[in-house]
Amino acid sequence: IRRIGILTSGGDAPGMNAAIRAVVLAAHQYSIECIGFFHGYNGLINQEYRLLDNSSVKDIIHKGGTILKSARCPEMLSETGVKQAVNSLIKLQIDALIVIGGDGSFNGMLAIEQHWQGQLIGLPGTIDNDLDGTDFTIGFSTAINTAIEAIDKIRDTADAFDRVFVVELMGRHSGHIAFNVGIACGAEQIISFENFNANDANKKVNEIVSDIKHHQSQDHQSYLIVLAENLWPNGAQSLSEQLKLQYSIDCGTCILGHIQRGGSPVAKDRLLATKLGVAAIEAVLVGKTSIMLGELKTEIEEVTLNDAVQHTKIVAENLVVAHENILALAAQNKR
Ligand code: F6P
Repeated sequence: IRRIGILTSGGDAPGMNAAIRAVVLAAHQYSIECIGFFHGYNGLINQEYRLLDNSSVKDIIHKGGTILKSARCPEMLSETGVKQAVNSLIKLQIDALIVIGGDGSFNGMLAIEQHWQGQLIGLPGTIDNDLDGTDFTIGFSTAINTAIEAIDKIRDTADAFDRVFVVELMGRHSGHIAFNVGIACGAEQIISFENFNANDANKKVNEIVSDIKHHQSQDHQSYLIVLAENLWPNGAQSLSEQLKLQYSIDCGTCILGHIQRGGSPVAKDRLLATKLGVAAIEAVLVGKTSIMLGELKTEIEEVTLNDAVQHTKIVAENLVVAHENILALAAQNKR
């Protein structure tokens, strides 16, 4: 192995820089040249790249975002785009490509696999935690900590005004973020893909309203509804408006949005990224290809890229139950 390529793709995630650093340092150890492509697959298609050496990755382990930039790349959905990417890999004599990203990015690798003989290694980098074959993705732990910190602040002001708040969290189509954050913040409601169907919105509103009324007759008068994005008909604002206009409930809305993607990675993400980055080079050296490396029960494991994108990782089913139990206990205590 003489030369590898690396890129970050899709939604950036805190810890991507730590992963790039680990890959570059480990590659250098084995005298492997490392080429970084910019702006995800766009940089591969357009041959926008630069050689990465140890000095390129100095002082980046603690930084959010990605020094290689990221992007979504619609061209990779067409055969022409994929072939352009493959041409670049061949022209630049890349032996292995390491992609840090989520399921869309891995689908890009699966497309490249059809036309290229080189090795393909994926590292799970997304705040959504929606990849199979790893307990946690790089960026998830930081994202939930960021959201928790923000919601704790919302709780303070909600308490001061005895207000209801709907807080919308990211996660695309999975509730890992919503459930972990909701439970950690003691949210009175968590509405996510795992426990709610959009067809039942009216029923849910009635349930929420009676719960709020019950709650407000007790000591704790603020009430937080954590809502997963892309779920409630017309979004968080519409739920909030309905509570306000139809039921005269003083209700605020906060869409946390991209704040969840930024910030310095927490220890857990730096360590995961570093372990997986080193493992990626080790996998390349023993000839592995078309795999994603992840961590399961503290062991580094590999899964096929295909298996990684199946979306079968049970979204916190135990957390769904835990949340219900906590609410039931809280209700008992109030009685
Ligand atoms: O996949 C990460 C993520 O932040 C999702 O949680 C969210 O739905 C999406 O990316 C937002 O993407 P963009 O930044 O392209 O709007």
